[in-house]
Amino acid sequence: MTPPATPAPKPVVAVTGASRGIGHAIVRHFYKKEWDVITLARTPFSQYCPWAEGFVRHITVDLSDSASITSAAAALHELLDGRGLHALVNNAGISPKLPDGRRMDAVNTPLETFLAVQHVNLIAPLLLCQAMLAPLRQVGGSVVNVSSIAAEKVHPFAGAAYAVSKAGLSALTRELAHELGDSGVRVNSVSPGEIETSILSPGTENIAKTQIPMKRLGRPEEVAEVVYFLASAQSSYVNGSEIPINGGQHI
Ligand SMILES: NC(=O)c1ccc[n+]([C@@H]2O[C@H](COP(=O)([O-])OP(=O)(O)OC[C@H]3O[C@@H](n4cnc5c(N)ncnc54)[C@H](OP(=O)(O)O)[C@@H]3O)[C@@H](O)[C@H]2O)c1
Repeated sequence: MTPPATPAPKPVVAVTGASRGIGHAIVRHFYKKEWDVITLARTPFSQYCPWAEGFVRHITVDLSDSASITSAAAALHELLDGRGLHALVNNAGISPKLPDGRRMDAVNTPLETFLAVQHVNLIAPLLLCQAMLAPLRQVGGSVVNVSSIAAEKVHPFAGAAYAVSKAGLSALTRELAHELGDSGVRVNSVSPGEIETSILSPGTENIAKTQIPMKRLGRPEEVAEVVYFLASAQSSYVNGSEIPINGGQHI
């Protein structure tokens, strides 16, 4: 009798900022699609998460600190244990506001805040791509960066440091796609508009009414679907692209 076939190993995805909001929806989506999910965030994993391994496949990292990123990358290599990385989703991001909730203009953003935003939103994705290049190449993996509509136009709530970091991330997506295309690694980004998470400022519902043709906020799951598409074989010839997810806000 022929022995039962060994199941094919699951593809592996690593997602930053997975503890809540869009990142949490992304990891749930990949998990449902039977990927092996590794999560990274500052806080330990939520007890409300749907899979037991969530607790052991979580890496604690502070993306504002390059030493912490180096340690997290080492931990990620250890968890992979020689397997390739099929997708790296650079989702974590910060968008500091003034104490009264208004946007931080360029002229009154303290240097430390400006630098911290660049580190989390732009430099961390670059450092993680550099550190994870070998396992990504090993399986022709995909990098998906989470940019923002604020990369293209001035936003009433997202501040200048945030916009600069996201414009940089969109440019980094292009540069990496150009550099890595012939190695089989694809690099793309998504650009969400107003998605219902804790990052939104009060008053965002008015933007939905006045500026979004679909007249509603987006849901984190609607971003997760597109991220999954960019990580999967269905997008095998998509490279260096940015997909807006905003109900038509950009038009
Ligand atoms: N919501 C929107 O409307 C919208 C629109 C455009 C773009 N985006 C982008 O979408 C991404 C996710 O946003 P979201 O709305 O889901 O935000 P969120 O709910 O505030 O979640 C942000 C995530 O980033 C992690 N994070 C923040 N600082 C970190 C640090 N120093 N080190 C490690 N992890 C850190 C947080 O985890 P810990 O606090 O546990 O570390 C959390 O998991 C961001 O890049 C954001 O810019 C969101």
